Amino acid sequence: MTEFCMPSEPRPPASATYFHGLNARGGGRGPDLTQGRWIHGSSNDAIFRTISQGVPGTEMPANPFEESEVWALIAYIRSLNAPVHSPVTGDPGAGERLFFGKQKCAGCHMVKGRGGHLGPDLSRVGAARSISYLIESIREPSKELSLGYLDPNNHYGIPLEYDTVIVVTRDGQRITGIAKNEDAFTIQLLGEDDELHLLSKRDLAEVRHERRSLMPVYTAEMLSSSELQDLLAYLSSLRGE
Ligand code: HEC
Repeated sequence: MTEFCMPSEPRPPASATYFHGLNARGGGRGPDLTQGRWIHGSSNDAIFRTISQGVPGTEMPANPFEESEVWALIAYIRSLNAPVHSPVTGDPGAGERLFFGKQKCAGCHMVKGRGGHLGPDLSRVGAARSISYLIESIREPSKELSLGYLDPNNHYGIPLEYDTVIVVTRDGQRITGIAKNEDAFTIQLLGEDDELHLLSKRDLAEVRHERRSLMPVYTAEMLSSSELQDLLAYLSSLRGE
């Protein structure tokens, strides 16, 4: 089962794009597939099993693909070269101190049970994401959101649930956060204060979806390149162990 022909232009099916993001670099709910780090086995046979049978106890579903489709997918995944980036030179201990201290990343992110709830839990981000993805997340957090993939019919694995929402109440109070739930009558907003606000739309003058990440843009003035290296060293050490 390990022999297969590489299709001339391998392409992923739409559902794979949804879970693993554009160019399989991670996004939505699935990990980055371009790093050659395979939690569930890296041989072609192991990847074949992961794709066709899913991974029990995780969100990775079994897929009803034809055998030839699964091999085409494996060829596609294998064809993705790891993005070129310089090796991480930082100090993970210094990165951890920046994360929980000066840069206040932990105000929004949980690592191993410590931190806030506004952003994704980063406890295994080092296993799931490439260094170039991490750099982009820190320097240009709204990039994917702002590319305009928010169209609900366009499933690109964009973390819609992290779009910034601003509400203004009829008595003028303004709350910024992310919408945990929203329907025609109510909105549950997790605010920047890390509190859940249950609001009735009748009491609101405005609900604005900003189409940008709530994560601040960490420019070189806010975060020097050596601090970035320290953070990258820390983040890439987070593998959920
Ligand atoms: C005000 C809240 C906030 C702060 C402060 C914050 N983040 Fe974020 N972060 C978010 C949100 C929300 C997302 C998800 C949306 C996105 O990807 O931009 C996110 C996404 C990320 C991601 C991508 C995770 C993934 O798997 O896609 C990384 C990595 C990250 N943040 C690292 C950091 C680091 C490092 C810092 C500190 C220098 C930091 N964040 C500070 C809110 C925050």
